[in-house]
Amino acid sequence: MDHDPTRRLLLTALAGLTLANVTLASAASGTANTQNNSRILVAYFSRSGNTRVIAGVIHRSLQTDMFEIEPATPYPVEYFQTVEKAKKEREAGIRPALKNNVADIERYQTIYLGFPIWGTSVPPVVQTFLSSHNLAGKQLIPFITHGGYGPGDSDGILSRLAPTARREKPLIMECDQERKTTETVTEWLEAIRS
Ligand SMILES: Cc1cc2nc3c(=O)[nH]c(=O)nc-3n(C[C@H](O)[C@H](O)[C@H](O)COP(=O)(O)O)c2cc1C
Repeated sequence: MDHDPTRRLLLTALAGLTLANVTLASAASGTANTQNNSRILVAYFSRSGNTRVIAGVIHRSLQTDMFEIEPATPYPVEYFQTVEKAKKEREAGIRPALKNNVADIERYQTIYLGFPIWGTSVPPVVQTFLSSHNLAGKQLIPFITHGGYGPGDSDGILSRLAPTARREKPLIMECDQERKTTETVTEWLEAIRS
């Protein structure tokens, strides 16, 4: 028996903390990240944040559920290393494994799918997402960001990997390039340090 009220309070708080952690852990291993109990899901992949901003606007405007598409093995932090890895994946036709799946994809009628254009196409990890979730009969609404070269062959890839989804006209938006930012900052650093 525990008669010390302060200690009991602390123990109760700690137990609550453990429960909260368990809830977080199980969310990470399968269900959509943010639940609004909606029939609409925003699923997105983003490296430098452009696509994430759009995902957030849709999520907050429509009170949707939200799922971030992430590879099981993260891409390198360094931009040019990521470009190199993505190029190798594209050339070898590699579809990297996902960190998580949407466990209850059946419950969604509409999926807003967001991604940046990589190598004039749909990033390999987003292709994994498409081929490992059954989107048959669902409404699929893409939102696509690019760095100035347009949507590439993404339309054809979406048709191939989600052939029976009902597709809406996508949002296609030109956004900043991490390459340009990286080069500008690097040049500036060199200039002020030389
Ligand atoms: C690996 C890689 C490849 C890219 N390839 C292209 C491309 O082929 N065409 C293009 O217009 N932009 C390309 N970009 C730029 C991104 O599409 C653009 O900056 C996008 O908005 C980034 O979205 P994010 O901030 O959500 O990651 C590429 C970026 C990366 C990291």
